[in-house]
Amino acid sequence: MSRAERTTPMTWRVSKSGEITTTHNDDVDWDSWPVADYLAENYREVHPSDAAVIAHHSAFYRRLAPGSLGRSVEWGAGPNLYPLILAASASRRIDAVEAGAGNVAYLERQILRGPDASWVPFHGLCRELNPALPATLAGALAHVDVVHGDVRDLPPGRYDLASMHFVAEGATEDRAEFADFCRLFVRCVAPGGYLVAAFMENMPTYRIGPASRWPGCPVDPDVVTEVFAPLTRELAVTRIDADPTLPDYGDSGMVLLTAVSA
Ligand SMILES: C[S@@+](CC[C@H](N)C(=O)[O-])C[C@H]1O[C@@H](n2cnc3c(N)ncnc32)[C@H](O)[C@@H]1O
Repeated sequence: MSRAERTTPMTWRVSKSGEITTTHNDDVDWDSWPVADYLAENYREVHPSDAAVIAHHSAFYRRLAPGSLGRSVEWGAGPNLYPLILAASASRRIDAVEAGAGNVAYLERQILRGPDASWVPFHGLCRELNPALPATLAGALAHVDVVHGDVRDLPPGRYDLASMHFVAEGATEDRAEFADFCRLFVRCVAPGGYLVAAFMENMPTYRIGPASRWPGCPVDPDVVTEVFAPLTRELAVTRIDADPTLPDYGDSGMVLLTAVSA
């Protein structure tokens, strides 16, 4: 790749000796997240991988009594509504915590002015698999509070359930920082709290739209298990294959997790 192809908002970091250095979370301008391009590439229709994640998570959420959880959190929510819809079966309130201003504005618009029609089939599938969900998409989103903030600042033990979709491995290039994100994710629920997550499998740093570049830290089921096993019980890690209907981000599929905080 030539220097001319290196694009913002994540620029290559080059040391004085000319080596390309690892990008960390604080190096990235998350306010520049390309919301429209990301939605167009990933969430304008229910892709097979979305359906697989929703089926996996719904089996977990069906075990939780409707409204039994006081407050849940979605880590690094981005503009993705289906994790928020899923959590609305069991959670009276859901904090959608997100660092990027564009994503926060999108989420607030979805809740205050009404959701894009493209999310209706997502709600339909979630409700088909878990009839405890509110009957309407707007009803599910009425449980959500949008929080513009850094997930690393969340206080320990605050939540009854935490969910995270494509964040820890998509927020840094550094394996140690990936593990730190996962540890903080577990820490934000009370002991015995529920954990639900999906990770891109083996995804390197990648592009969205014509001209933006974002960090990726390749992980697989073994890496995820190694990080979560000491912190959890009832850990279940599985995977699905890459989805040919999605852009090629260099991944080999997705890693799916459910667990209970130790
Ligand atoms: C790959 S995107 C995933 C978005 C969404 N969860 C989804 O399922 O499509 C990563 C998200 O993490 C957010 N993020 C990165 N670092 C963060 C941090 N320290 N605190 C809060 N959000 C963060 C980004 O702004 C971005 O929305």
